[in-house]
Amino acid sequence: MPLIAPSILSADFAKLGEEVRAIDAAGADWVHIDVMDGHFVPNLTIGPGVVKALRPHSAKPFDVHLMISPVDLFLDAFAEAGADYITVHPEAGPHLHRTVQRVKALGKKAGVSLNPATPAKMLDYVLEDIDLVLIMSVNPGFGGQKFISSQLRKIEAVANRIAKQNLDVLVEVDGGIDAETAPLAIAAGADVLVAGSATFRGGPDHYAPNIRALRGDA
Ligand code: DX5
Ligand code: ZN
Repeated sequence: MPLIAPSILSADFAKLGEEVRAIDAAGADWVHIDVMDGHFVPNLTIGPGVVKALRPHSAKPFDVHLMISPVDLFLDAFAEAGADYITVHPEAGPHLHRTVQRVKALGKKAGVSLNPATPAKMLDYVLEDIDLVLIMSVNPGFGGQKFISSQLRKIEAVANRIAKQNLDVLVEVDGGIDAETAPLAIAAGADVLVAGSATFRGGPDHYAPNIRALRGDA
């Protein structure tokens, strides 16, 4: 059974606390929070202040996806704000290994995210130190984009490698996940599915059935 991490990027930003409580009640496993800086990606979203304000609204893991560069300046702030997982892109700083070490030193789970054109090879010297690999199945920046199917090969390669090395690392897939693409990602080896538009479409009454459909038990 995959874990479902709704991306609040597709939530109603005017009532984010309520939206987080609604996806929690609808059966979300994690809360995926997309942080964008208008520099690393062409969009601006939320900062540590909003993460902190949302923290009391759910006890579920906050899965914070940092699309900001330089990323190191903000690791402490997101840790203090209540992140459980902190995921960074290798291109977002000059010293990925140091960044991962800092996240771990802050007592948080560390993730590394691979853009569609970023090879799995980037994980060679950090895979043993991290808790999560986030494979982007769209170019980061926006919700509602189409799943890039070449990423299925990457999901499979990373999942196989984790199994072969017997590592305790989750494979998460982010972008264009819906009831059609979810089974493909799961078959390729995904443990966690991020879904923004597919979770929030239709409004609060649809969150629970939308999440069940992603799990394949609609
Ligand atoms: C894109 C974000 C995603 C996004 C996914 O940069 O990382 O988490 O919200 O949105 P959907 O599920 O609509 O593709
Ligand atoms: Zn994301």
